[in-house]
Amino acid sequence: MDFYNFRLLLLILTAIGCRSGDSLLPPNISGVIGRNVTFPTALPASISGVASLSWTFKSPTQPQPSPVYTRLNDNEKVASGYVGRILCNKTTFALQLGPLTSMDGGTYSLSVITLDMVTLTAETILEVLEAVADVKVIYSPREPVEINSTVVLTCVAQGSSLSYNWMNGSAPVVADGQHVTLNRSQLIISSVFRGDLLGPIYCIAQNKLESARSPVFNLTVSYGPEKVAMTRVPTDEVLKKGSNMTLSCTAQSSPVADLLWLLNGVLLPMKGSTLYLSGLTEEQSGNYTCMAYNNITRRYTVSQVTTVSIIEAISGTNINGPASLLIAGNSTANLTCKALAGKADRVVWFKDGKSLETTPRVILNGDKSTVSILEVQKEDAGKYSCHLINSVNTDIDNYVMVINYGPENVKITGVKQVEVVDTVVMTCLAASVPAPTYVWKFNGTVLDTTTAEYKINKPDYRNSGIYTCEAYNPITGLTNIATHSLLVKGEGELHDQLSDGAIAAIVITVLIILAVIIAFIIHKKRKVTE
Ligand SMILES: *[C@@H]1O[C@H](CO)[C@@H](O)[C@H](O)[C@H]1NC(C)=O
Ligand SMILES: *[C@@H]1O[C@H](CO)[C@@H](O)[C@H](O)[C@H]1NC(C)=O
Ligand SMILES: *[C@@H]1O[C@H](CO)[C@@H](O)[C@H](O)[C@H]1NC(C)=O
Ligand SMILES: *[C@@H]1O[C@H](CO)[C@@H](O)[C@H](O)[C@H]1NC(C)=O
Ligand SMILES: *[C@@H]1O[C@H](CO)[C@@H](O)[C@H](O)[C@H]1NC(C)=O
Ligand SMILES: *[C@@H]1O[C@H](CO)[C@@H](O)[C@H](O)[C@H]1NC(C)=O
Ligand SMILES: *[C@@H]1O[C@H](CO)[C@@H](O)[C@H](O)[C@H]1NC(C)=O
Ligand SMILES: *[C@@H]1O[C@H](CO)[C@@H](O)[C@H](O)[C@H]1NC(C)=O
Ligand SMILES: *[C@@H]1O[C@H](CO)[C@@H](O)[C@H](O)[C@H]1NC(C)=O
Ligand SMILES: *[C@@H]1O[C@H](CO)[C@@H](O)[C@H](O)[C@H]1NC(C)=O
Ligand SMILES: *[C@@H]1O[C@H](CO)[C@@H](O)[C@H](O)[C@H]1NC(C)=O
Ligand SMILES: *[C@@H]1O[C@H](CO)[C@@H](O)[C@H](O)[C@H]1NC(C)=O
Repeated sequence: MDFYNFRLLLLILTAIGCRSGDSLLPPNISGVIGRNVTFPTALPASISGVASLSWTFKSPTQPQPSPVYTRLNDNEKVASGYVGRILCNKTTFALQLGPLTSMDGGTYSLSVITLDMVTLTAETILEVLEAVADVKVIYSPREPVEINSTVVLTCVAQGSSLSYNWMNGSAPVVADGQHVTLNRSQLIISSVFRGDLLGPIYCIAQNKLESARSPVFNLTVSYGPEKVAMTRVPTDEVLKKGSNMTLSCTAQSSPVADLLWLLNGVLLPMKGSTLYLSGLTEEQSGNYTCMAYNNITRRYTVSQVTTVSIIEAISGTNINGPASLLIAGNSTANLTCKALAGKADRVVWFKDGKSLETTPRVILNGDKSTVSILEVQKEDAGKYSCHLINSVNTDIDNYVMVINYGPENVKITGVKQVEVVDTVVMTCLAASVPAPTYVWKFNGTVLDTTTAEYKINKPDYRNSGIYTCEAYNPITGLTNIATHSLLVKGEGELHDQLSDGAIAAIVITVLIILAVIIAFIIHKKRKVTE
C-alpha cells in the first residue's frame, strides 16, 4: 500500500463521519524526552474486528494533521520521521512511540474502522516532559549562625513541570509554618538550630512520570561558645610561690572556639585550652578567667572565675636574743623572731612546749614578733619557740634562754657531831646559775678546798668549830654564806647509850670492815713487792 492509498483512506474516513470513541484513549498522556510512551487503546469488546486504523498528529507548530501510522488489514505504514520509533501491538493496537523528542508533543488522533464498517475516532494530547536531572541543593547563607540565621535551601533541578519534596533522614520534612516553611523549591528554616541541618537532608524533584533525588546534604550551623568550663590543678586557694599551676578550659562551640585567658580582667599572652604556669610569683595572684571566642558567631563567653593567692613560704626563721648575759632581776631580755623570706600572718610563741603566757613582765609587742621580758627571773629560763605561720607553711626557731642568778638558799648539809674515828663530809648547797665557786672557812680561816664538798678523813678535837661556805657567782657577782658547826668527840662517846647487842654488832661490823681493809692492804703490798 502506498502513501496515496493512505491519503485516500483518510479522506474516506473523514467523509464517512465519525462515531466518537472517547473511551478509546485517555484525554491526555505524558512522556519524557528520550523515553518511550505508549498510547493505551481501549477498544470496546463489542467490536467485531479492526479493518483499518490510523494515527495522525498535529501541534501548534504543525496545525495540519499529518499521518503517523496506518494499518490496513495486516499491512502497516509508518510515516517517515517515525520509522524505527513506532511499535503497534497487534492485538491491542496500543501504539508505542519513542524515544521522544520535544517535537513529539501535540494532539494525536486515532481512527479505527471496524470490520462491520463502524468508524471510531479519539484524540489525546501528548505532553512531552523534560527529564528530571541534576538535582541538587543550594543554600544560603554560607555560614549560618544558630538562632540568628534564616537558612534557605533551594532544590535546583533540570526538568519541566517539577514539584519538590524534602526528606530529612528517612522521613519527609514537616513544615510547621513557623520554624520550617516550604515554598515551591525552597525549604526555609527560620532561627535555625544546630541540629536542624545535620540530616542527611535531600530533595526530590519530580514530574508526573519520574523523580530524581539530590545528593545528601548537611550543613554545619555555627553556635556557641557555651558551657565554658575551667578547671584548675591544684585546686588550693593559696599556692606556694614557685609552685606550678595548670588551668584547663573547655567550651561547646562550632566551629571550635579560640580560648583566651584573663588575669584580673587583663588578657594574657597565652592562648589555648591549657594554661600552664610554673614558678608562680606573687604577681600572678588574682582572678583567672577563661574566655572562649567563636569567630563565626562572633560571640564571647567567659567561664567562672578561679581565684588564687600565691604566697611565699616562710623560711629562715630566726630568734634574735640578747647579746649580753642575763641576770635575774636586773636584765631585760628581748627575743625577736624574724624570717629571712616570706611574710607571716601570725606569730605564736611557746615556752618549754606550752604556749607562752604574757604577764606584766612578759610582754608581746604589737605584731607579736618580739617578746620583751622585763627584769628577767630565773623562772624565765627555758626553751622559747617562735612559730611563724602563713597560709602555706609554718616555720619554727628555738632559743634557749639562760638566766644567771644566785647563789640562793646556800646551806651546808652534814652531821653536827662525830667521833674521831668517823669521816666527816660537809656539802655546800646553793641554787645558782652558773654554778658558784666555793670558799670554805673554819673559824674564819680560809681552807684550801674550793669544791662544794668538804671532807675530813680523821677528825680530831681541833676540827670542832664553825665551818663557813661562801658561794660566789662570778656572773651575778653575788656571794652568799652558810655556816655549820661541828663537834668532834672521843671514840665511843657518841655511842654510850647503845645496848650491848648493838655494840657487839657494831664491833663485828667494824672488825669485818677492818679485815677487808687489811686484806686489801696486804693484797696491795704483795702487788707492789711483786
Ligand atoms: C490530564 O490532564 C488532567 C487535567 O488537565 C490532569 O489532571 C491529569 O493528570 C492529566 N493526565 C496525564 C496522564 O497527564
Ligand atoms: C523504545 O522503543 C524503541 C523502538 O520503538 C525500542 O527499540 C526501545 O528499546 C524502546 N525503549 C524502551 C526503554 O522501552
Ligand atoms: C500486546 O498487548 C498485550 C496485552 O497488553 C500483551 O500481552 C502483548 O505482549 C503485547 N504484544 C507486543 C508485541 O507488545
Ligand atoms: C531533621 O531531623 C532531626 C532529627 O531527626 C531534627 O532535629 C531536625 O530539626 C530536622 N530538621 C529539619 C529541617 O526538619
Ligand atoms: C555531612 O556530610 C559530609 C559529607 O558531605 C559527611 O562527611 C559528614 O559526616 C556529614 N555530617 C553529618 C553530621 O552527617
Ligand atoms: C614545676 O615545673 C617545673 C618545670 O616546669 C618542674 O621542674 C618542677 O618540679 C615543678 N614543680 C612542682 C612542684 O611540681
Ligand atoms: C577577684 O574577685 C573578687 C570577687 O569577685 C574581688 O573581690 C577581688 O577584688 C578580685 N581581685 C582582683 C585582684 O581583681
Ligand atoms: C576562624 O578561626 C579559624 C581558626 O581558628 C580560621 O581558620 C578561620 O579563618 C577564622 N575565620 C574567620 C572568619 O576569622
Ligand atoms: C545575633 O543576634 C544578636 C542579637 O539578636 C546580635 O547581637 C548578634 O550580633 C548577632 N550575631 C551575628 C553573628 O549576626
Ligand atoms: C644591775 O645592773 C646595774 C647596771 O647594769 C648594776 O649597776 C648593778 O650592780 C646590777 N645589779 C646586780 C644585782 O647585778
Ligand atoms: C627591748 O625592746 C624594747 C622595745 O621593743 C626596747 O625599748 C628595749 O630597749 C629593748 N631592750 C633591749 C635590752 O634590747
Ligand atoms: C674554834 O672556835 C670554837 C668556838 O668558837 C672554839 O671552841 C674552838 O676551840 C676553836 N678552834 C680552834 C682550832 O681555834
